[in-house]
Amino acid sequence: MNFTGANILSVDQFDIDSIQTIFATADRMQPYARRQKRTKVLDGAILGNLFFESSTRTRVSFGTAFNLLGGEVRETTGMESSALAKGESLYDTARVLSSYSDVIAMRHPKSGSVAEFAEGSRVPVINGGDGANEHPTQALLDLYTIKQELAYHGHTVDGMHICMMGDLKFGRTVHSLSRLLAMYKNIRFTLISPRELAMPDSVLEVLAQAGHQVVITDQVSGISDADIVYQTRIQQERFTTPQEADLYRGKFRLNSEIYTKHYKPNTVIMHPLPRDSRAEANELDNDLNQNPNLAIFRQADNGVLIRMALFALTLGVADQVDKYECDVNWYSEKRTGY
Ligand code: CP
Repeated sequence: MNFTGANILSVDQFDIDSIQTIFATADRMQPYARRQKRTKVLDGAILGNLFFESSTRTRVSFGTAFNLLGGEVRETTGMESSALAKGESLYDTARVLSSYSDVIAMRHPKSGSVAEFAEGSRVPVINGGDGANEHPTQALLDLYTIKQELAYHGHTVDGMHICMMGDLKFGRTVHSLSRLLAMYKNIRFTLISPRELAMPDSVLEVLAQAGHQVVITDQVSGISDADIVYQTRIQQERFTTPQEADLYRGKFRLNSEIYTKHYKPNTVIMHPLPRDSRAEANELDNDLNQNPNLAIFRQADNGVLIRMALFALTLGVADQVDKYECDVNWYSEKRTGY
């Protein structure tokens, strides 16, 4: 894959080699993300960070990643504060905002909207989540984390057993992650959800075509040898009413007691976040916070590395990051998270 100038819209555009290129580039970003060094490789460049749907991690880590490479960030948050609320088309918005930016990261509640926007853009567009469809940068950071966590236990992605649980219908992160994992070999997928929130057929077909073993169930069973449990939130924003989401909230929880009962020691616990910590949901309990297998914050930290790598690659400076490095002048706490 030629990254320079490319849009990043779907995990389907990657192959194993391009994933390796992204991960190798992300590895090289660690000293900068840890504030051991600075780089000004993107000095003068502008990121248009357009979030038409709520976000904490993706929006701020895109901005942080761009700043860490020396660039500037201009943000739009919320549909109501943009001219889209006045009926402007995605094409016109893209045509205008791409004149103000060198690269654009975008989230929007409608499936396919980021690809539609990209058609009007004159600069690379990176999908930060389009409705229930895809979240490719999350899938990359999830896979990067899975590789790291499994390597720590002497395992590989090929041959692993992953359990995905919760809202698999509307959870775009599990759609993108499954499609990415389909490129690897002999993976066992146990997909646990209410029947109404099962993984879409389009994703199941990709897994079947790639020859992976898939078990679909609404019971927490058959997971005693899972290497990864990937928990998800009920995606209330995709339901017609909050009351409809209430039917499913709290159905599949993970806490210390359930973890010890159903999973082998050292099963890695993941969640794309945000977790819904309200009592009626609480799909991933705080009582796991001190469990060393809880990878959720390492996962979120890795988002900065992956997004730095994507900016460096799409703007064609991945090999020049070191050339523009300089010292960190301020007190900087030792960071080990990345
Ligand atoms: N994982 C994720 O997309 O989080 P945000 O909604 O906070 O961006």
